[in-house]
Amino acid sequence: MRIPIIAGNWKMYKTVDEAVALVRELKEKLADVNNREIVVCPPFTALHTVYKELSGTNIKLGAQNCYFEDEGAFTGEVSPLMLKNIGVEYVVIGHSERRGYFNENDDLINKKAKALLLKGLKPIICVGESLEQREAGETETLVRKQVFRDLDGIEPYQLKNIVIAYEPIWAIGTGKTATSTEANRVIALIRNTVKEMYSPLEANSIRIQYGGSVKPDNAHEILTQSDIDGALVGGASLKADSFTAIVKF
Ligand code: 13P
Repeated sequence: MRIPIIAGNWKMYKTVDEAVALVRELKEKLADVNNREIVVCPPFTALHTVYKELSGTNIKLGAQNCYFEDEGAFTGEVSPLMLKNIGVEYVVIGHSERRGYFNENDDLINKKAKALLLKGLKPIICVGESLEQREAGETETLVRKQVFRDLDGIEPYQLKNIVIAYEPIWAIGTGKTATSTEANRVIALIRNTVKEMYSPLEANSIRIQYGGSVKPDNAHEILTQSDIDGALVGGASLKADSFTAIVKF
């Protein structure tokens, strides 16, 4: 049984005050949910305050990025140790916005994943193709390659602490979603790749989310597909009503 995991990636939105207002609403609206894992990923500046707000609730805390060293002369970076220290549980890595705007590659994402696991944190590893890659028929090859490289050297026992998010880049923030069957097909392919690398046991238990314009009106259709184990939600996670509706799909 894979418990659906719905995570809100707030991206570069919300001051501390705005973040507190949003989580206060979410705590109330989501208090009765016990069959989903719920995660919010505020910007770094709001993490500690949101952590305190979330204490004793069913909502978990995630960060949106990290570096792979514990400390050092890496101006502007935040380490897994620091995130662990303030109560973060999940960390999104390899988001297409990081890959695209900040030139992050699979080697770096793999290092981050390993560093997070060593600290007892849970990576949400994002993969997905661009529109050009999709139109060139490269989706399968690319996504498989990302999974192979991002999970390289990770031990089977560590997989239970990893979530993969399939986020086709052309569906992010565009209002276009992959059809539920197409999202399910690529996610099944990712699961199959995990099976090739590990075993059917790991493949059947790893959770794989879909991300890209998930909204209250398409959440049910997408999230009831056989291989889709939750959503990584951008825009619709910034409002309590829409995020609540998605969590309760
Ligand atoms: P949207 O839900 O705004 O399309 O963003 C998806 C995403 O990038 C989540 O990480």
